[in-house]
Amino acid sequence: MSPKKTPVKKSSKKKSSKKAKKNTQKSARKKSSRTKTRRQADLFSDPRSKKKDAGSRKKASKKTRKSSKAPSARSQPVDGTAEKLATKQKDISVSEFFAKNRHLLGFDSPARALLTTVREAIDNSLDACEEASILPDLFLEVKAIAVDHHRIIMRDNGPGIVRDQLPRIFARLLYGSKFHARKQTRGQQGIGISAAGMYGTLTTGKPMRIVSRTSRRKPAIELILTMDMAKNQPVVRKENEIDVDWGHGTEVQIDLEGTYKKGKHSIDSFLDQVALANPHLQLEYLSPGDKKPTIYNRVTKSLPEPPMEILPHPHGVELGLLMQMLKDTSARTVSGFMCQEFCRVTQNVVRKISDETEGLGRRIDTNRHPGRISAKDAKILHKAIAQTRIMAPPTNCLSPIGEDLMSKSLRRNFEPELVITVTRQPTVYRGNPFQVEAGIAWGGELPGDDLASIFRFANRVPLQYEQGACAITNAIVNSPWRNYEVQQARGALPTGPLAILVHIASVWVPFTSESKKAVAHYEEILKEMRLAIMEAGRKLATHLRRKRRIADAERKKDYIKTYIPQIGIALQNILDLSDRQRTTTENKLADVLERSRKM
Ligand SMILES: Nc1ncnc2c1ncn2[C@@H]1O[C@H](COP(=O)(O)OP(=O)(O)OP(=O)(O)O)[C@@H](O)[C@H]1O
Ligand SMILES: [Mg+2]
Repeated sequence: MSPKKTPVKKSSKKKSSKKAKKNTQKSARKKSSRTKTRRQADLFSDPRSKKKDAGSRKKASKKTRKSSKAPSARSQPVDGTAEKLATKQKDISVSEFFAKNRHLLGFDSPARALLTTVREAIDNSLDACEEASILPDLFLEVKAIAVDHHRIIMRDNGPGIVRDQLPRIFARLLYGSKFHARKQTRGQQGIGISAAGMYGTLTTGKPMRIVSRTSRRKPAIELILTMDMAKNQPVVRKENEIDVDWGHGTEVQIDLEGTYKKGKHSIDSFLDQVALANPHLQLEYLSPGDKKPTIYNRVTKSLPEPPMEILPHPHGVELGLLMQMLKDTSARTVSGFMCQEFCRVTQNVVRKISDETEGLGRRIDTNRHPGRISAKDAKILHKAIAQTRIMAPPTNCLSPIGEDLMSKSLRRNFEPELVITVTRQPTVYRGNPFQVEAGIAWGGELPGDDLASIFRFANRVPLQYEQGACAITNAIVNSPWRNYEVQQARGALPTGPLAILVHIASVWVPFTSESKKAVAHYEEILKEMRLAIMEAGRKLATHLRRKRRIADAERKKDYIKTYIPQIGIALQNILDLSDRQRTTTENKLADVLERSRKM
């Protein structure tokens, strides 16, 4: 919309003196500057309010002309403005921030909110069980209170949680045991379950109910909890000791505004995938309206290899962090600091790093106190670390699914004709060890004309949203499927009776956001994913080529077989055979053909 022009007063012809001319020019200049200001203001205004504004602007323009000066024309702020503005500065509580930006945590629609809550509860239960070396036996109920109001009840047989920790775990954001631990876990951020509880209370007004029991010898503790969002602190509304019929574990109950849906992004599909990536899981699931629970039976009774916690690798540390660590360490020498705070650093490695510092212009004495290392020296030390060859971090902090179990899970879920699984060797991005696995299920019941079904996993957790934004999808799309006898349109997923599973296991999965929906596009990660997919793809190609060769040979043989009686007659005529000899020859020919078919 063009800005409304203020009509220019026609100057009287009679007033043709010099003064009048000057006045006209001056007022035109003023008007043009007003128009410009308005045009700029229009850029930021709501287009719907422009009509209304145009009318009121006429009236206002008269007033403005009378009033002293427009604020934009002032070159000096009024005394005390900064002080007045300073009174408006406030701390922002993390819970208030995430309550406003709930979409960042996956609560952007009622359907997603329900799924996110289930996911956070399942992740925590599985993590807790594995950490305590307990085979997970979980119970999940999603109960419809109204169409857009559901209750989630999640119970696990984990180690339980001590009374003191319960309020903070469930009603304080950024509180947890996994953020600082450098080992593979489903949870990372210390936000998940408390954010779900906060969302539930915000949308339904109902508090969370937590029951936890740490041993058969102790009673279960029941807490009714809400969160004080301004302070990001828990508020215990009620506390009881109660009787439960289970020995140890935790039960979480959250009421929330959420809608239950079927389909690709449903809780049911999520649980199918959880079972796929967690073959050791036993789960009983009662969906809304169902009287009979769905049972997911475990495929194996052995728990995944427990991941060990590791120290950071020196190659992954950034300069600022290195400086902070030098300040905070309890070590008395740089050499002690390096060996104590990082993995794969020995005295020999420290010597090499020190030698490198010499090449960078200043040898840093590794016997110095870490606190006395200046910013300039820290920079040299950081560069020297980067230039020194250091063994890759240990990989016992990772717990991949493994080729065998991945294969079993894929067979159970799809009953395909062929399953191929690949587990790559662990490698490192930004000092974080990670490992990629890929699985392909081909044929069977899988639909032949559709795009491949993609199953993305990060630390055994299915990723259901933002497929297009995920590094896994990128790696699949950018693999040369046509070389593997699979159709693929340019820039698209491959087409065929094909399900592709990709799992990244890492001590820190780089998600694109806090809602943990998609993996970020780190070059090292993309490369590993493509290598895993290509390795599986090559094996698929071998199978498909062999299958095609056999089919071709079959076709040829069937063709020849139709002419065996004619060949028999021709041979009888040429060689003067009896009818019996002709039949024997025909049988022999059919036999030879049959034997070559079996070869
Ligand atoms: N069912 C449970 N049993 C035992 N401990 C639990 C359970 N649920 C949560 N916890 C503990 O509470 C902590 C906080 O859980 P929360 O889901 O908020 O964060 P997180 O799992 O650490 O990270 P993320 O935000 O990525 O989920 C966890 O780190 C874990 O130590
Ligand atoms: Mg969690």
